[in-house]
Amino acid sequence: MKRILSAIQPTGEIHFGNYFGAVQNWVRLQDEYQCVYGVVDYHAMTMPYNPSKLRENTWDILFSLMALGVKPDNLFIQSLVPEHTELGWIFNCFCSYGELTRMTQFKDKSDQVKEGDKDAFISVGLFDYPVLQAADILIYRADYVPVGKDQEQHLELARNIATRFNNTVGKEYFVLPEALYSEALKIRSLADPTKKMSKSLGDRHYISVFEEEKTLRKKIGSAVTDLGDEQSQGIMSPGVENLFIMLKAAGKKELHEQLIGLYQDPEIKLSYKDLKEAVADSLVLMTSGFIELRKELLANKKEIKNQIKESSAEIRKLAQETLKEVKELSGLQNVKF
Ligand code: AMP
Ligand code: TRP
Repeated sequence: MKRILSAIQPTGEIHFGNYFGAVQNWVRLQDEYQCVYGVVDYHAMTMPYNPSKLRENTWDILFSLMALGVKPDNLFIQSLVPEHTELGWIFNCFCSYGELTRMTQFKDKSDQVKEGDKDAFISVGLFDYPVLQAADILIYRADYVPVGKDQEQHLELARNIATRFNNTVGKEYFVLPEALYSEALKIRSLADPTKKMSKSLGDRHYISVFEEEKTLRKKIGSAVTDLGDEQSQGIMSPGVENLFIMLKAAGKKELHEQLIGLYQDPEIKLSYKDLKEAVADSLVLMTSGFIELRKELLANKKEIKNQIKESSAEIRKLAQETLKEVKELSGLQNVKF
């Protein structure tokens, strides 16, 4: 069975960008592949952060992932598998400074930190994080990595690191992982559809998958659509396209076709109010089960936490095995486990 690895940062709530761009796919893939999914808390330290919030967010996202359908046996917490950081160091020596300077996410995130404060602190961790990501992927010798399109460059870097490592040690040790892109590649911000939906843009820009119905409807209702008269000119603006993408991703394929037909019909001209209502209805229908399940899981907090600690320990064994072999191949010393 081929192996899948993916990961998510515990930076707060899961929004529809994360869900349609990543988690929905994680859930589906569990039937076909051996899946390993990490909550990568080491990555969450790369931006200014609060330690007690980090621990809280890590557990919070685990409960959320389970409520969305991820099996607990497939989940681990990155800091319970410290081999990631050890392999990350080794990989630092197989990655060039130039490669990291070309990572667009580093540029975006450092700009974000600097936005309010020109002299803001940009950590080496933020710069180096794609190398840790390569370790996350390669330590499980994953065949496929389901991610959003924004992670393409990081995956390419992981392949370069793997190739360089293989060449240096003279063995095809690492398989080169491939990306698996989900159908809805990118969900846009509701308030500024030129940007991708992201929590860091602010409250008006995203919707949590556990959002209460009333706020969900309100946020969809005020989503930005056309700025001028795009519809009459036959141009679909990014905000409108975003609504259609969400409708389809929420499982309403037929309704999506039908409304696209109306949208394109010059005689009819679909009203955006109707489109938004259809999107909100479909999202509410989809998320009501998630909200219920999350409540049930939270009622058994202690048990679930123990379960995740155990699955992390089990998954760690795979990582230990790889690291042992990597150290052997790299000329480092190995203590017996
Ligand atoms: P992040 O919260 O940025 O760590 O993202 C977690 C996962 O969700 C990654 O696989 C991202 O590619 C994906 N993702 C985040 N935001 C979006 C978005 N707006 N549209 C599609 N996928 C996204
Ligand atoms: N960098 C990814 C993001 O920003 C999160 C991530 C960390 C990841 N390690 C990974 C994704 C390994 C896939 C595989 O979303």
